[in-house]
Amino acid sequence: MQRLAVLTSGGDASGMNATIRAVVRSAVFRGVEVFGVHQGFEGLINGEIEQMTAGSVADIIHRGGTILQTSRSEGFRTIEGREKAGGLLRAMGIENLVVIGGNGSLRGGHEFGQLGINVIGIPATIDNDVPYTASIGFDTAVNTVLDAINRLRDTASSHGRIFVIEVMGRECGEIALAAGVAGGAESVLIPEIKPDLTQVIEKINQGIKRGKLHSIIIVAEGVYSAMELRDKIQEETGHETRVSILGHIQRGGTPTAVDRILASRMGKHAVDSICQGERNVMVAGEGDRIFSIPLQKVVNGKRMPELEMYEIAKMLSI
Ligand code: F6P
Repeated sequence: MQRLAVLTSGGDASGMNATIRAVVRSAVFRGVEVFGVHQGFEGLINGEIEQMTAGSVADIIHRGGTILQTSRSEGFRTIEGREKAGGLLRAMGIENLVVIGGNGSLRGGHEFGQLGINVIGIPATIDNDVPYTASIGFDTAVNTVLDAINRLRDTASSHGRIFVIEVMGRECGEIALAAGVAGGAESVLIPEIKPDLTQVIEKINQGIKRGKLHSIIIVAEGVYSAMELRDKIQEETGHETRVSILGHIQRGGTPTAVDRILASRMGKHAVDSICQGERNVMVAGEGDRIFSIPLQKVVNGKRMPELEMYEIAKMLSI
């Protein structure tokens, strides 16, 4: 009988639980023995591994976070750490590992795969920065940001204020762009495209002249300090400006239907690919298609936001 272990790693994302459920239930359905690793790669090094059953994942499809918990493991970055983890899995007769996480976790998984364990990656990160695929958790995070924009827009209009809203994505502007387009923001500042502050301020001033009641500026963390941006905008426009930093609120909450369905399809595909003898691949999803691509290709790739989305954000916010 085949055996697999499953873990969640890196920053959590809504839909990780739905993914664990799909992996565990598909494994049980296919007659594969399944084990859960607690605390991500750190727990793998420490042998925090226990057998799971269909019942272990009851009542979690709707829950944010991850029942297996997660970590950003320093130990796993070392060859000693990875070898120890590999030895523990081998001793338990587990030859497959499903890694649910973002870029860093998939890179860790890829390196682990070089030691002989078969690693299957499933992309889950609110940042949506894994190449060649949509990531579990992104849709939920964007909807959370959108809800915040709607609320902030109400108060912004009432007071005739400008709002700077900071969203997550240290190196990736996907959340900012999607929420900016869906929320009708005046400007969206993302790390991939050098922002032109003069243009941002000009646009706000034009809007004020035309009688706009508010302006919403979305900034991805790391592009600018939201506070400095507020001060600059306030100074240059003479209009009251407020800041809202959404932070980790974006990481929690019940997953949307889109994320639950993606999680269910990807989790099932991961187990199918193990049963079919695929090795060291990531499950990818694009539109209606779920497919496998080599982990090697994923770690060598880079995802860029769609420039068309940036254009749309600019054009529709005149
Ligand atoms: O999960 C990715 C991410 O949400 C980034 O967008 C953010 O910069 C980072 O995690 C925050 O990480 P932590 O929770 O470790 O502070």
